[in-house]
Amino acid sequence: MTVFAVASTKGGVGKTSTALHLATMLAKQGKTLLIDGDPQASAAKWAGWRRDTAFEPSPVTTRLNGKEILSEGQHLAASYEHTVIDVGGRDSVGLRYALLLAKRAIIPIGASNLDAAAMTDLLEVVEVARTYNPDLELQVLLTRVDPRTKDAASMMEFLGELKLDVLKTQVCERVAFRRAIGEGAIVQEIGTDPLAIREIESFFAEVTA
Ligand SMILES: Nc1ncnc2c1ncn2[C@@H]1O[C@H](COP(=O)(O)OP(=O)(O)OP(=O)(O)O)[C@@H](O)[C@H]1O
Ligand SMILES: [Mg+2]
Repeated sequence: MTVFAVASTKGGVGKTSTALHLATMLAKQGKTLLIDGDPQASAAKWAGWRRDTAFEPSPVTTRLNGKEILSEGQHLAASYEHTVIDVGGRDSVGLRYALLLAKRAIIPIGASNLDAAAMTDLLEVVEVARTYNPDLELQVLLTRVDPRTKDAASMMEFLGELKLDVLKTQVCERVAFRRAIGEGAIVQEIGTDPLAIREIESFFAEVTA
């Protein structure tokens, strides 16, 4: 049983997109639970759209808030091979509980100074979580990268100085990601962008290695 939390204190970095891709790919390997821990319920909306498609398999999706992510989440996760938590933006109660339940936190991050500042905030939250969950692993994923700039390279340098485990895969800003989510799918299922597919599969291989 592995519990992944896709988390950040920053909004709009690609948490939900990453969590939905991860959970759907995991569902191909075994029974998978997707916990929507965001009051905005984006993952639950995606699951609703997905029910009107023929795409399968699907993770079983449930919404939990704040403390329930740990109490109820722990209970539910015991019946699944894989669990993915899509944590809401900001330094929420849900984020703190998700980091207590998770074995591994995947931290999507953009390549800007604001993202760098958010990472510093998040690391403080992680430090507290580790006093209760000492084995919590952290993996940073650069997302929504603009390959025409050097922003990602400077962010890598910053993350390197923090001695963080940064995934080799970088997920670029690509229309296919936005479109797939809007159709209750993942990029492999809509099949329009081989580069997007390659990136997300390489991400998956790294986090499940
Ligand atoms: N790699 C990508 N390429 C293009 N668009 C993306 C990519 N990743 C995410 N998006 C789009 O960016 C927006 C924000 O992404 P997403 O909802 O996954 O972020 P989030 O961190 O979950 O946001 P929130 O903090 O609101 O929960 C969405 O419209 C999503 O479709
Ligand atoms: Mg989200």
